[in-house]
Amino acid sequence: IWPKVVFSGIQPTGIPHLGNYVGALRQWAQLQDQEPEDTKLIYSIVDLHAITTPQQPEKLKQWKRESLAALLAIGIDPERSTLFYQSSVPAHSELMWILSCTASVGYLSRMTQWKQKLNIAPASHIEDRPAENRLKVGLFAYPILQAADILVHRATHVPVGHDQQQHLEFARECVTNFNHAYGETFVHPQTITPPVHRVMSLSDPTSKMSKSHKLQRSRILITDTAEEIRLKISSALTDSTQGISYDPPLRPGVSNLLSILSIFDNEKRTPEQLAQVYRDTHPRIFKDMVSDAIILGLQGVGARYKELIDNKNKYLDQVEDAGARKARQNAEETMGLVKAAVGL
Ligand code: ADP
Ligand code: NA
Repeated sequence: IWPKVVFSGIQPTGIPHLGNYVGALRQWAQLQDQEPEDTKLIYSIVDLHAITTPQQPEKLKQWKRESLAALLAIGIDPERSTLFYQSSVPAHSELMWILSCTASVGYLSRMTQWKQKLNIAPASHIEDRPAENRLKVGLFAYPILQAADILVHRATHVPVGHDQQQHLEFARECVTNFNHAYGETFVHPQTITPPVHRVMSLSDPTSKMSKSHKLQRSRILITDTAEEIRLKISSALTDSTQGISYDPPLRPGVSNLLSILSIFDNEKRTPEQLAQVYRDTHPRIFKDMVSDAIILGLQGVGARYKELIDNKNKYLDQVEDAGARKARQNAEETMGLVKAAVGL
């Protein structure tokens, strides 16, 4: 009998934006209330994944702290959840190695994200070395690290976005391979369906809100002040059509604002229903209402973040230490079983 364990990770790539929040992180916090007490919730800031692409060491260090503060600010309770940096738990890397010894090169080579990277790489004119020579082993093998992240904590449930489904399937394949070689040791992890919310860029509402977008005002950071939120929403790209209506292909900007309003609506009205309600509202007034909804929905995340990141009382250090200890202990239990199974 396996107790329910939820694992999820986020890369330390700066302060999360509204899309990250409603698409993933808000669910992390909600699970704390929704799940019974004996469900283990394990959340990791996956810094080892971050270094699969070049990072500036000082920046990475800063982003890790910022991610930690942001997760605390949205309500992740380090007493209820295990919250830690992946690299503080050596067992993640250790299990990755062991799993890589029963994982197939062929399966990894067929992963969509890897194939995309292979295809994108030759387009670079800076270097004429073949893609295989420029792409790094870590980038190829990181699905094994993802599998290890999940399995080292004996996770049974993993919230994953659509883009990560294939990687979870690979983690399940790792379980099959390992259990076949060494006997029943791991359980196959299941997917937790992520929220379907998708937030689009404020400046280019036909593409999703993303940290890779150059314009700062294209995204709302979860730590933005009320003023910053109002400014960004008021400058969000809409259109010159009269009134408010929900029509993503024809009116992507207005439709995105309606979606955002719907995500934070207390009455859980759909964007279509809200479009009916605000049909004749002036765009400026409508944008004010969207700003109000976001500000209310974020409930002071920015202020809490500021306090955490500014304060000199070592609270973040304490959370780092305690989280690392708790996660290490949990992972070590698994490694005991794994090593016994393998004969190490
Ligand atoms: P980004 O696109 O900013 O690089 P990531 O790819 O790091 O974001 O995504 C981290 C998590 O946030 C994933 O679970 C992803 O599904 C979710 N996410 C990212 N952008 C959005 C968005 N615009 N709307 C909804 N969810 C999003
Ligand atoms: Na991305």
